[in-house]
Amino acid sequence: MRIFSGIQPTGGKTFGNLSGGFRQYVATQDQGEAFFCIVDLHSITIEYDPRELRESTLDLAAMLFATGLDPHRSTVFVQSHNPDHAQAAWLLGAVTSFGELRRMTQFKDKSEAHEFVSSGLFQYPVLMAADILLYQTDVVPVGEDQRQHVELTRDVAERFNARFGTLFRLPRGQYPSAGARIMDLTDPERKMSTSTSSEMGKILILDPPEAIRRKVMAAVTDSGREVRRSPEKPGISNLIEIMAVATGRSPEAIEGEYADGGYGRFKAAVAEAVIACLEPIAARYRQLRSDPAELERLLANGAAKARLVSAPTLQAMYQAMGFARLPD
Ligand code: TYM
Repeated sequence: MRIFSGIQPTGGKTFGNLSGGFRQYVATQDQGEAFFCIVDLHSITIEYDPRELRESTLDLAAMLFATGLDPHRSTVFVQSHNPDHAQAAWLLGAVTSFGELRRMTQFKDKSEAHEFVSSGLFQYPVLMAADILLYQTDVVPVGEDQRQHVELTRDVAERFNARFGTLFRLPRGQYPSAGARIMDLTDPERKMSTSTSSEMGKILILDPPEAIRRKVMAAVTDSGREVRRSPEKPGISNLIEIMAVATGRSPEAIEGEYADGGYGRFKAAVAEAVIACLEPIAARYRQLRSDPAELERLLANGAAKARLVSAPTLQAMYQAMGFARLPD
């Protein structure tokens, strides 16, 4: 089984990324041949600082290994180190419609939040489809916010297969049962986001314990005192999910334990559970980040392994689409 997922290097990584991303990557790396990609080409679709891109790429590499990816089992690499991605994205643009891209909620949300809307932001899901399809992926571990992009990838693959002959395997998204969509602490109707959440709205994986306590204790809740999940209690429901992710316990067990102890006691317990979950990750991260040459070596190995797998797919795409090819 082939597993592929991607994550953007820019912006501080959040507890949401841990829940829908990192945690699932580690859980899936044993289930087959796994590829995890630092998607730096996606990061340039909204405003970013070119002086920071290189450092944040290494930051994310360190975080991927700190959360448990094993470079011997998983292929961890940088998207721009494998030029097949950009090429495949251009080819797949031929079987992706303007209407489909216009309907993507991430595009709508992000284009509203920015004054300059790049054409790259619009084409973003085509590049993501290329990432996934180049590796003949079966399973894509992601959070709920990426569901629409994974569904589009399937549609694009089916359209390509129907028009040019069957070439792509159809991937399916894999979403965690708890914590598939961690919400913003100050606005629990919106997802916790690297780019759009305020400082108090998001827990960063590298936040010091004091900051985590402050943010969790200030999290917006309702005026009740019952700790249970309900659509009328988005703030408390979110904290229950966060607790479930941090401890590995089921939301039901957490509701059972904290049902009527009041919100203050529950919030304090959530904060301590999050701190206990993140501390060892932050410690490993600092250790790995202190050796950038080693990270670069691991990423170079990853890119070489990735290209071996993506190159035949890209060549088959050119062939199927009828391009004149030069002899090798
Ligand atoms: P990105 O970088 O925004 O997020 C990385 C992963 O974190 C998950 N995630 C969340 N999960 C639960 N709750 C949240 N609040 C939350 N916020 C983020 C995301 O679902 C994702 O799994 N487009 C992708 C990157 C990408 C990709 C790919 C993913 C590019 N190519 C190919 C899979 C396959 C993105 O921007 O993720």
